[in-house]
Amino acid sequence: MPTPGTARSTIVVLDYGSQYAQLIVRRVRECHVYAEMLPWDASESDIDRLNPAGIILSGGPNSVYDAGAPHLCEHVLKRDIPVLGLCYGMQLMAHQMQGRVALAEHREYGLAQVQITDPSSALFHGLDAVQQVWMSHGDRIDALPVGFVASARSDNSPYAAIEHRERRLYGVQFHPEVVHTEHGAVILSNFALRICGCTPSWTASSIIHDSVRSIRETVGGGRVICGLSGGVDSTVVATLVHRAIGDQLTAVFVNTGLLRQNEAEETVVRFGQLLGDRLQYVDASEVFLHALAGVTDPERKRVIIGNAFIDIFEQEAARLGKVDYLAQGTLYPDVIESAGGTGNAAATIKTHHNVGGLPERMRMQLIEPLRYLFKDEVRAVGLELGLPPDLIYRPPFPGPGLAVRIVGEINYERVATLQAADAIVRQEIESAGLGRDVWQYFAVLTPLQTVGVMGDNRTYANVVAVRAVTSVDGMTADWARLPYEVLARISSRIVNQVPGVNRVVYDISSKPPATIEWE
Ligand code: XMP
Repeated sequence: MPTPGTARSTIVVLDYGSQYAQLIVRRVRECHVYAEMLPWDASESDIDRLNPAGIILSGGPNSVYDAGAPHLCEHVLKRDIPVLGLCYGMQLMAHQMQGRVALAEHREYGLAQVQITDPSSALFHGLDAVQQVWMSHGDRIDALPVGFVASARSDNSPYAAIEHRERRLYGVQFHPEVVHTEHGAVILSNFALRICGCTPSWTASSIIHDSVRSIRETVGGGRVICGLSGGVDSTVVATLVHRAIGDQLTAVFVNTGLLRQNEAEETVVRFGQLLGDRLQYVDASEVFLHALAGVTDPERKRVIIGNAFIDIFEQEAARLGKVDYLAQGTLYPDVIESAGGTGNAAATIKTHHNVGGLPERMRMQLIEPLRYLFKDEVRAVGLELGLPPDLIYRPPFPGPGLAVRIVGEINYERVATLQAADAIVRQEIESAGLGRDVWQYFAVLTPLQTVGVMGDNRTYANVVAVRAVTSVDGMTADWARLPYEVLARISSRIVNQVPGVNRVVYDISSKPPATIEWE
């Protein structure tokens, strides 16, 4: 992605099926060196395309003796660039270079200490002689491959690190990419910067520079459309494309009527400032609410919303005349995931789209400026582009919006009830200073009505649930231990200020087995 081939400042990570392969890429990038993951059997030309300064072989679940175990392709070692093998990657190097790999007496799993036996090793530059590392292996090296020396040992592995200095081949039995290896980041940085000689030039500003240039080259005089949700990914995409091609971009913001309180107005003001008249605002609330009338099944809601969104987007594109490109915010983890681990990325990556089916139906080509970025890199780019921090760190908001937070029927009245309750939840959590500790926090309108008493009168009204979860990536989550005082304020304000609600409950389910959203 950073104009491959122009500078040898890229590290290729060959994926042997390790659950940590993505982490290796991230850790290298944290040293401001661009890294990209390729399957272990990537062809010579796939690797050439990136003109790497070094290659890292990831760990993997296999033993080198397993039938059909992935191997080290000959062209990798023929390149005469540094190679670092991690765990299985190191064992492979040893196995294929006349060393011996054997089943260790004890499986080594978890924290371990290694003793650096060769302090002159560039891999361990700046580190103390004893290091805490994370091990996870059954096999170990029993006899060194030809030309290699040991540079570290552990109780269980006489060859916890090995190297062939002349050929600049390195291997470690442990996992420097996981945080439990205390100075793993230093080891990877030593490899990328000292051994491979990369320059630490992968920064938010270089990403912006390269990306703007590449969008300009790709688009030429064509026209680009993009959907804006108001979230960080689509905003960064729109801002980058706008910076690259200015008026050739039209960004479409669709108000589905299922946004949070004041969100449509605020988004229009905010993006009006960023994009001027390149922002197309479409108020489609009526279309969405009409299409959803009487629908209670969560999956049907999603399908209806997806289809309505495509229809509206198509209409807007048709009004613009010929549009050549659709820009969207696919991220690197989506790309890696859809490539199916160690599968051949180029063959299996699907046309990802946030708005299902659009590119095919509209015959547009895709521009994906975030395709090689992790979320934290997107945020860094956003900040560098001058986008406001509150937008950059905004909690995720689902595409179908409040529709998946209104259990049961959706109508204007119920949307308004939820918007009011939700605004209170957000205000109270933010004013308690908890906004950044909690991954997502919102209200849910349940289909329940319960009996209450207000003044001297009986009420029979809605139950609102409050949901606040902690999470790292949304894949798993735990309910947030919000202070009772905050919960008390939320509850009291909702029942007093939101008409039609007389009871508030707090959702104390984790994911799994629950999900974050209620639908
Ligand atoms: P769940 O409810 O599956 O949500 O635990 C995990 C994360 O995904 C978000 N989410 C969605 N985002 N379209 C989206 O763009 C959707 O249909 C959707 N459903 C859930 C959810 O908010 C959480 O961050």
